[in-house]
Order: sequence, then C-alpha cells, then structure tokens
Amino acid sequence: MKQYLKSASCDAQLEQAMHYALFNGGKRIRPMLVYAAAQACGLSKIKVGFAAAALEMIHSYSLVHDDLPAMDDDDLRRGKPTCHIAFNEATAILVGDALQALAFDVLSQPQLDISGSAQLQMINALARAAGGMGMCGGQALDIAATGQSLDLLGLEQVHQHKTGDLIRASVRVGALAAQASQQQLDALDQYASCIGLSFQIQDDILDVEGDTEVIGKPQGADQALNKSTYPALMGLDAAKSKALDLHNQALEALSGFADEAEPLRQLSEYIIARDR
Ligand code: IPE
Ligand code: IPE
Ligand code: MG
Ligand code: MG
Ligand code: MG
Repeated sequence: MKQYLKSASCDAQLEQAMHYALFNGGKRIRPMLVYAAAQACGLSKIKVGFAAAALEMIHSYSLVHDDLPAMDDDDLRRGKPTCHIAFNEATAILVGDALQALAFDVLSQPQLDISGSAQLQMINALARAAGGMGMCGGQALDIAATGQSLDLLGLEQVHQHKTGDLIRASVRVGALAAQASQQQLDALDQYASCIGLSFQIQDDILDVEGDTEVIGKPQGADQALNKSTYPALMGLDAAKSKALDLHNQALEALSGFADEAEPLRQLSEYIIARDR
C-alpha cells in the first residue's frame, strides 16, 4: 500500500492524510480474507496483494467517512484522532474520495498472472459491494435507523450491507483471482455472508463491553447515538450466541474444502473471539 500511495495526490496534505488513514493500526481482516480465499481455491502463490490493498483502501475510506460529524461523529479511530480531527473535515471527505478512486486504480492495474476477464469480475464485485447497493446503501440504512427501533430482519439488512458486503467482496475477489469454480464461489459466498454478519455483531458487542484502549474507538458510542445494534435489540447474551451460530454456519459452508481453507476457518473463529 505504501508503494501505491506514492504520488497518490498532487496535494501534500491530502497525501499525508491518505497515509494517516491507511497506516494507523487497522487489523487488515479484509486483506487477509482476500489471501485466505485465494488459498482456499488452491493458489497459495497467486499475487493478490493488489486486490488485498484495494479492499483495505475502500474499507479505510469507509471508516474516515463513517467518523465524520455528519455520520457517527467519532473522534477516536484505531487509537488515534480520527482523520477529520487530525486534519479537517474537508480533507477527510477528500481522503475518502481519493482512497476510493485509488482502490479501483490499483485493482485495474494489469496483472501478469490473472486473466483480464477475471480481473474485470473482481473490479465489478468491488464496485457493487462499495456502492449504493452495498456498503454505502447500508450506511444510509444505518443513519436512517438511528433512533428508530428496527426489527431483527431490518437490522440484519443494515449489517449485511454496511459491513457484510465488503467482507463478501474480499472473499469473492480472492476466489476470482484464483479462478474458483462456480461451486467454490457459491460455498465461499455462503461462508462470507455468515462472517460478514458475525463481524458486525461482534463489533456491536465490543461497543458494549469492549475497552476503549483496546478497541481503539470510543466504547459506548452506539448507545450514545441510540444506534440499532444486536445487543440493543436482543440483549448481549443472545447477540453472542447468534455470532457463535453464524461461526458454525460459516464452518459448515466450508465443509467441501480441505486443509487449504484452514485460514478461512481460523478467521471466522477470530472474528467472533476478537477483543478489538
Ligand atoms: C470496523 O472495521 C468497522 C466495521 C465495519 C465494523 P474493523 O474492525 O475491521 O476496523 P479496523 O480496520 O481493524 O480498524
Ligand atoms: C461501520 O459500522 C460500517 C462502515 C461501513 C464503516 P460502525 O459505525 O459500527 O463502525 P465503527 O464501530 O465506527 O468502527
Ligand atoms: Mg457507523
Ligand atoms: Mg461508526
Ligand atoms: Mg461499531
């Protein structure tokens, strides 16, 4: 990502802020999913670093915008001041815009070991996951639901879009790079739907019982904004058991894969066990 960020902007402050948004201690789960999905489809040496970087750029942009005053209005991210606090709002908006464009720049760069048609499918998968039918749509639903009481189905829809869609795209992009069969793509998508939802449920849980020092963002921020979350809707214990159910369903979806899917299995486990 450092390589891709070199000369990423004609404005020095914008470039510095893009660097700040990308290199501030994220867990890099989406890139790991790209690598793990490629590996599950039999290609451990495939060079999917460019795709992993693209996913992390879209994700990091989504966090910069998510923290803006007009959205969640948070001042702490990954243990550091949020981008709009460290720089300013205009810069934070532009960081998001520029990182989104850079992601597609990176993802569309010619690759020696991936066919052009596979790469087009990867670009398409990320575009759909990031847009109005995906993450942005989910963020809009999340904002609309703030202060409202959603039912479980409505909340699942918010979570599947705002968080699940990029996680699904991470897995799909890795699998496409590895020339996965349709059967593999379907199984992996089932896996990814489960972990995408469990990921956001665990995020909701950590907002309730996490430690600000560890999670690197203000604990209790959802409650303060009266956000619709799993713990708010069903209670903490039920939210935890829902996350565990989803982990088991994720493992089930991988039953047709052997040892090569072990990293995917471990990532699912990590997602519901993590404390940050
Ligand atoms: C946080 O994502 C935002 C959600 C989609 C829940 P992560 O927990 O992956 O954040 P970083 O990248 O590790 O900071
Ligand atoms: C964020 O959900 C989903 C995004 C698309 C960024 P949250 O608002 O719960 O994420 P955090 O808790 O601020 O990381
Ligand atoms: Mg949010
Ligand atoms: Mg937020
Ligand atoms: Mg959250």
